[in-house]
Amino acid sequence: MTAKKLYLRSFGCQMNDYDSARIVDLMREKCGYERLDAPEQADLVVIVTCSIREKAQEKTFSDLGRIREIKKERPDMMIAVGGCVASQEGKNILRRAPWVDVVFGPQTLHRLPALLEKRLQTGRSQVDVTFPEIEKFDHLPAPRCEGATAFVSVMEGCSKYCSYCVVPYTRGEEISRPLMDVLVECAQLAAQGVKEITLLGQNVNAYQGKGVDGKEVGFALLLEYVSEIAGIERIRYTTSHPKEFSDRLIAAYGKLPKLANHVHLPVQSGSDTILTAMKRGYTHDWYLDRIAKLRAVRPDICIATDFIVGFPGETQEDFDETMRLIEEVGFDASFSFVYSKRPGTPAADLPDDTPQEVKLKRLQHLQAVIEANANKIANAMLGQVERCLVFDHARRGEGMLSARTDNNRVVNFVGDASLIGQMVDVRITEVFPHSLGGELVQKEG
Ligand code: SAH
Ligand code: SF4
Ligand code: F3S
Repeated sequence: MTAKKLYLRSFGCQMNDYDSARIVDLMREKCGYERLDAPEQADLVVIVTCSIREKAQEKTFSDLGRIREIKKERPDMMIAVGGCVASQEGKNILRRAPWVDVVFGPQTLHRLPALLEKRLQTGRSQVDVTFPEIEKFDHLPAPRCEGATAFVSVMEGCSKYCSYCVVPYTRGEEISRPLMDVLVECAQLAAQGVKEITLLGQNVNAYQGKGVDGKEVGFALLLEYVSEIAGIERIRYTTSHPKEFSDRLIAAYGKLPKLANHVHLPVQSGSDTILTAMKRGYTHDWYLDRIAKLRAVRPDICIATDFIVGFPGETQEDFDETMRLIEEVGFDASFSFVYSKRPGTPAADLPDDTPQEVKLKRLQHLQAVIEANANKIANAMLGQVERCLVFDHARRGEGMLSARTDNNRVVNFVGDASLIGQMVDVRITEVFPHSLGGELVQKEG
């Protein structure tokens, strides 16, 4: 019998990427599905969706429209929709796209085989977007990983309820995996050759998992444990919340050399008025104080962030405060977008009279300043030797490899394919807009 074929497409954040990888593992091990790169020959199409901004959500429905055309030719093909749009819309997905067979949520993905089965038996589309605590991890096969880097989800959901954001509604409240489960997963990955682990969660530093003695373990201690695992050479995490960026976590940067010299700490705005309206729970100065303390233990750490530009009521003065913060921190990168109104969130009811063109102009200005700063940081790396993890062949250039520096930059250099998956020293020799060029530093002896 030939294997059944699965096509999966994932939108949105790394939480979705992680869930998608687990779905592929699950469908292969439980139901014998093989993954395809295109939907045309698929027996099952899975779309893992994102609803963080309106545009992201609309992609789901345009994708579903295209898949419908394929289904017309292949009536037995099954279509399943997961992720945050599924979670938020539930049954409404079937109203807009009645050709969908299964709707499942971020916490029910382990039930996908049973939902598909029920769909076949009953002839009716199935919807399950409940939040059954954290049971999914107990029903998923051990992760399989081929590269030297891997993601490990340590907590799910968010209990912060920022006034603009859908995540608490789509992913549920914060809930952490027990410490041992996380450590076992990391050790399994290390045994498969993984050298760099990225710990994942919507507010990963809010981690509070049950330790072996039943007492709760916080994020800083979790990092210490992961750091002890043989074979793991570098640890990253995303996304962290400034409010939970504790003194203990900062102290970990002094103690744990495996902790990458790069942190993603979304600030959203530099204006205290806007931060309050967003319900972020910190001020401009508080954020600066966290960064100053962090730099006291790791002077050369790179800091990336997220911004929402044009939040309802944002004045030019508020925006100037954001630009001042950018100047003060010297960010290395940002994910920045114009505010998108999300139905059902408190901010959706706020008056918003800033014209869209003004918001776009602000965004462009902000991005240009951060880009210039990123360039400055890159230029300062010229001539330095960086410890890098080689992750693949470079996309361009015969015999070229791609590696990632400690501060999260891609550097391309000439090297033998056998180095893929290894840590190497590379001297930085060139700076390009979004990458670096370098040469391998041969170890003596
Ligand atoms: N938990 C993380 C971020 C998760 S969402 C944090 O709080 O920092 C990822 C990013 O999407 C956010 O940092 C924010 O910048 C952006 N985002 C969320 N809701 C948005 C909205 N309604 N409009 C525009 N951007 C939004
Ligand atoms: Fe959304 Fe705020 Fe939670 Fe981040 S902390 S996921 S922005 S509600
Ligand atoms: Fe999008 Fe959900 Fe992630 S809304 S950003 S996929 S948590």
